[in-house]
Amino acid sequence: MHPRKIIIDTDPGQDDAVAILLALASPEDVEVLGITCVAGNVPLPLTTKNARIVCELAGRPDMPVYAGCDRPLDRDLVTAEHVHGKTGLDGPSLPDPVMPLAQGHAVDFIIDQLRTYAPGTITLCPLGPLTNIATALQKAPDIAARIAKIVLMGGGYFEGGNITPTAEFNIYVDPQAADIVFKCGAPIVVMPLDVTHKALVTAERNNAFRALGTPAGIAVAQMTDFFERFDKEKYGSNGAPLHDPCVTAYMIRPDLFTGRHINVEIETQSELTMGMTVADWWGVTDRAPNATFMGAIDADGFFTLLTERLARL
Ligand code: BDR
Ligand code: CA
Repeated sequence: MHPRKIIIDTDPGQDDAVAILLALASPEDVEVLGITCVAGNVPLPLTTKNARIVCELAGRPDMPVYAGCDRPLDRDLVTAEHVHGKTGLDGPSLPDPVMPLAQGHAVDFIIDQLRTYAPGTITLCPLGPLTNIATALQKAPDIAARIAKIVLMGGGYFEGGNITPTAEFNIYVDPQAADIVFKCGAPIVVMPLDVTHKALVTAERNNAFRALGTPAGIAVAQMTDFFERFDKEKYGSNGAPLHDPCVTAYMIRPDLFTGRHINVEIETQSELTMGMTVADWWGVTDRAPNATFMGAIDADGFFTLLTERLARL
């Protein structure tokens, strides 16, 4: 089954950028059919621009990059410039992209690709709010049965939330979309904060990126230099968590992660806990399992993989 066909749905974001670079550096493991952008960390015009900056940094100006939904299904957009800076990709100084956006809407691209390839062929890799994926499922319910897997970054259980006490950013921004996705019936793998907060870029790990001496290695180190200040101040941690690369690393080395197949439901009613991933980690309900919720990562293995693969770009 190698390489696996994937669509990366994203709102770059420095950690999204690293996730994309890892995938584009790993053609023997993943074939990226396209990159679909959504509003999230920053508004859509910036996420579509940043995705193309990253493709050009990876030497892939041929990659189709689509614009998708510019706001959540049923709520005002919440953004995260306080984490990612006003461009969403603050840190390195990278040139504006020359490559154009692909024609058409991201949602139609997702539907079209899932209908074109055999059922069970395409894995969706959402790295931002789930608006594009939910919209595709609403518009074309037949695609649910054709999705090989959805491997997403979102939620948290033991770690709680990062944008509210109970909600992680990607799920909080569009809880209605997350609810649709978690109920769609496709196999789901979740990389929650419980995992990503263990994937910390320590000074030593960031020096390894910088020491690659390549434009991609140096840019990744500079991105981390920028966004680590937020998590260091907030959590007193050793460095920034690389949330989204856990998704693309899973597509390459699933053995780096362990978790449980459990029921996960999304809070969509209470303003107090809006966007909470109610994860039945301890199996205290009889609700049917619908997701593999990861809890642990081999962080050294993850950073070794990332550094080796970034070195190829
Ligand atoms: C998630 O939110 C964004 O800020 C990151 O890119 C990541 O996808 C972490 O909560
Ligand atoms: Ca993201």
